[in-house]
Amino acid sequence: MCGIVGAASSRDVTPILIDGLKRLEYRGYDSAGLAVISSEEELDLRRSVGRVVNLEKISGSVSGSIGVAHTRWATHGRPAEHNAHPHTSSSQVAVVHNGIIENHQDLRAIQKEQGFPFSSETDTEVIVHQIDWHMQQGKDLFKAVQSTISELHGAYGLGVVSKQEPGVLIAARSGSPLLIGLGENENFIASDMSALIPVSKRYMVMEDGDIARVTSDSVEIFDASGNPVERKIIVSTLSDDETELEGFAHFMKKEIHEQTRAITETLEGRLGSDSVLELAFGEQAREIFDATKELKIIACGTSYYAASVARYWFEEFGIKCDIEIASEYRYRKHVVNPGTLFLTISQSGETLDTMAALEMAKTLGYSNTLCICNVPESSLVRASDLTIFTHAGREIGVASTKAFTTQLVTLLMVAICLRRRMVGDGRSIDSMETEIVQELRSLPKQIETVLDLEEQIIAMSKHFGTKEHALFLGRGAHFPIAMEGALKLKEISYIHAEAYAAGELKHGPLALIDEDMPVVAVAPNDELLEKLKSNLEEVRARGGKLFVFADVDSGLVTDEETMVINVAPVHSHIAPVLYVVPLQLLAYHVALIKGTDIDKPRNLAKSVTVE
Ligand code: AGP
Repeated sequence: MCGIVGAASSRDVTPILIDGLKRLEYRGYDSAGLAVISSEEELDLRRSVGRVVNLEKISGSVSGSIGVAHTRWATHGRPAEHNAHPHTSSSQVAVVHNGIIENHQDLRAIQKEQGFPFSSETDTEVIVHQIDWHMQQGKDLFKAVQSTISELHGAYGLGVVSKQEPGVLIAARSGSPLLIGLGENENFIASDMSALIPVSKRYMVMEDGDIARVTSDSVEIFDASGNPVERKIIVSTLSDDETELEGFAHFMKKEIHEQTRAITETLEGRLGSDSVLELAFGEQAREIFDATKELKIIACGTSYYAASVARYWFEEFGIKCDIEIASEYRYRKHVVNPGTLFLTISQSGETLDTMAALEMAKTLGYSNTLCICNVPESSLVRASDLTIFTHAGREIGVASTKAFTTQLVTLLMVAICLRRRMVGDGRSIDSMETEIVQELRSLPKQIETVLDLEEQIIAMSKHFGTKEHALFLGRGAHFPIAMEGALKLKEISYIHAEAYAAGELKHGPLALIDEDMPVVAVAPNDELLEKLKSNLEEVRARGGKLFVFADVDSGLVTDEETMVINVAPVHSHIAPVLYVVPLQLLAYHVALIKGTDIDKPRNLAKSVTVE
C-alpha cells in the first residue's frame, strides 16, 4: 500500500529517497515518484508507473538536499503517471499523501472556481492546491499546511516541500502512520521505519493531529491545538538481515521454508517443561487473562482465518469466542459482555480496518485489548494494552505464510493460558496442558516432514496450470485451513478458488463439480474424517477430480479420480498448523507454472493502510 519517504539533509537526498522507496516495495504499489528541490531552487518532479527501478532510471539527473517520494497503490484514479505522487501546484509546492480525503470533491469544485487546473483524478491533488492557495494568501509553508489540514476530512499522512522555502519539509498525520527519523545533520520522514534502515536508527512516532517542521538540523512537532510537543524517541531494532532471498527464487518460497525456524522462535522462552509460561507474554498478561471471561477476535484476510481456527481451540477449552472481519465490525452496533477481551490479530500491525476496529473497541467497555502481531514498531502494538509477538521474522511475500502459522501457534498458547482458568484455579497445570505443550514442541520437526513432500506437491500442481476454478474442502478447524488454502491460490495464481465446509457441498456447490473443477481437500485423521470421506465420495460420484492431503492412516488412496499425498500422523490440536503448509506449497507451485508475480501479486498490498 502507499508509502512515504522524505528527507532534509546537507547531502543529495535522491539516492536516500530511491533506496527508501525500494524498501517500501514489499507493501505493494503500482507507481512511484519523487520531488526534489535542486540547488537552483527548482522543483524537480519525476514519476513513473510500475517498479521503483523505473523511477530510478529517470531520476539520474535529479539532485538536491530536500525532497519527498512516494509509492502509490491506486484508490482514486487508475495507476498512471499523472495520478502518481508527488502532486504539485503552480510548480511551487509538492505533496505526497497516504490515506483518503473524503471531502475531495467539494474542495475540487471550489478550487476549480479559484482557477486551479487539475491534472489527476486523485483525491490528493486538492491538498496541494489548497496549500498553494493558502501560500498565495501570504502564509508560510507550515501555516499553509496547518490551515489545509484543518479543512480536510478523512485520513492522511503528508509530506510537503515548496521551492519558496527550500530548506523545510512539513509532515502531518491523521489516521495514516508517519514517523520522523533522526540523523546527523539530516532528518527524515517515512510511513514505515523500514524505509529508513540505513540512514536512521532513532525515530519519533507522530500522533494523530500532529504537524512537524523538519529541516536538516531541527525537528519541531506541534499537536492538533498548535502547541509544541515532544514525542518519545524510540531506537529501532530493524535490520537488513531478513531482506535477502538466500538462494530461493521468491520470498514466498523462502518464507514457507522458514516456518520450522519461525515456529521455533515463536515458542522460544514461552514453554516450560510441561506448561505454557504465561509470564513470558509480559507482566500484564496474568492480570489480563485473569480478567477474561470471553473473547472477541477481530482481523482481516489470512489473520482472520487464524482467528477462525483458534475459535475451535477456545471453544473446545470452554471459552466463548466471537470472531469477525474488522471492516464489518467497525460499522455495527455492539453489545459487550463484562470480562470480554478484545483481541486483534495482524501480521503488519498497520491494517487500517483492524486499527479502526481497535480504536472503536476502546470506547465500548471491553475489559482489555490484546494484539497478536509480527511487527514490533507498528500502530496496533502501540495502541493495545498487551501485545504478544509472533516472532515470525520479517515477511516480504504479499501472501502470508509464516506469519499465519506463527499466529496459530501464538493463539494456541493463549488458549492454553485461558483454559487453565476454565478448568482449574488458573495456576495449576493438568495433563491435557502438558500433552498439548508436547504437541507444540514437536511441531517444528513435523513441519519439516511436510516440507519434504514438495516434490509430490510439484507433481500435483501440474494438474492446475490450465484450470480457472478450484474448490477447497475441510471440516472443523480444517475448514478455515481450506479457506486459507483457497486464498493463497487466488492471491498468487489468480485462479478463482472457493472454500467450503465439506458438509455444505450438497447444499449448492456440488452443482459446480465436473472434471474441470479440481477439488482440494485436507483430511487429517480426526473425529470428522469419516464424514469428510463421505463428502469426497459425493465429489467422486459426479466425476470430480480430488487432490487430497490425507493422514497416512486415513484409508484414502490414489486412484484415477483421486490424487492423495500422505501426511504423517499428527496430534489433533496442531494439525491445522501442519496441514496449511502443503496448501501454501501447492499455491506457490501453481503460480510458478502460471508465471505470475508471486511476491507482489497484481492489485494487492502487503500492508493494507486504506479502507
Ligand atoms: C494474506 O495472504 C493477505 N495478503 C491478506 O489477507 C492479509 O492477511 C490481510 O490484509 C491482513 O493483514 P495483516 O495481518 O497485516 O493485518
